[in-house]
Amino acid sequence: MFALNLNKIPMPIFYGKAALIDYLKSIKTPNSTIGFVPTMGALHQGHLSLMQQSLAENQNTVVSVFVNPTQFNNPEDLSKYPRTLEADIEKIAGLSTDIILYAPSVEDIYEGKVLSQEFDFDGLENQMEGKFRPGHFNGVGTIVKRLFEIVTPTNAYFGEKDFQQFQIVKKMVSKNNLSVNVIGCPIYREPSGLAMSSRNERLTAQNRADAALIFEILNLAKEKFKTNSAAEVKEWVEKSFETNALFELEYFQIADETTLTPCINKISTQKYRAFIAVIVNNIRLIDTISLN
Ligand code: PAF
Repeated sequence: MFALNLNKIPMPIFYGKAALIDYLKSIKTPNSTIGFVPTMGALHQGHLSLMQQSLAENQNTVVSVFVNPTQFNNPEDLSKYPRTLEADIEKIAGLSTDIILYAPSVEDIYEGKVLSQEFDFDGLENQMEGKFRPGHFNGVGTIVKRLFEIVTPTNAYFGEKDFQQFQIVKKMVSKNNLSVNVIGCPIYREPSGLAMSSRNERLTAQNRADAALIFEILNLAKEKFKTNSAAEVKEWVEKSFETNALFELEYFQIADETTLTPCINKISTQKYRAFIAVIVNNIRLIDTISLN
């Protein structure tokens, strides 16, 4: 097996925050901006597109690779999360050796206290992912805030597949008066339509092909929402999954795009989105689509 010689990769890689902070201070000029792409690694084209956007819009781009323990409510999910740092470094360097990589240890981030801060996200945290993954968004808020303090980005880039996370991060930034622009970027999809996710790596080839159904259903739901109520569309989606033994539907929700509260009566001036979480062979996949 080919082993990567990390010393030969001509790009700045930091495993500790102190050295990263010093380096960022040394390259900062009065008008330069820092773009930041936080990731948990197992990088795919979706992550690389966020990095490309950051490279195009900023003088400096920092990418973090850190599997954050405090956002996993399920220990098995945490232990099985793919960790592929060498392959990730190769992918980043293939895109640009100007990217600054921060790949900290749990100790470097949490300094002996692997705990989440408690946040109030004005109720955003009580919907969907928040309901099914207790404590998840406190973990996300904790790590993103900490990474923002270390990296001090001007712009931070988040994929819209995790649309609830994107809204949560925006809320955390505004409530804490942080001076960072949180930028949402379009979902990157496999040719089948399946949203790209690090978790897709754990699917068998057959399940990966089958999982294309999730986006097919979302598109049909979008079509149905033109002439049906949110409740009718939800019922149709739930029935569609009931007849398919491979999938376990965790939730399907049509919600207001900003407050994330469920749509009860459609209001024509409101922006809605459908959100879905499905378990395929023990692997949890999420997706979302804008409805109007
Ligand atoms: O979306 C992710 O990969 C993670 O939730 C994030 C934002 C990197 C925080 O750990």
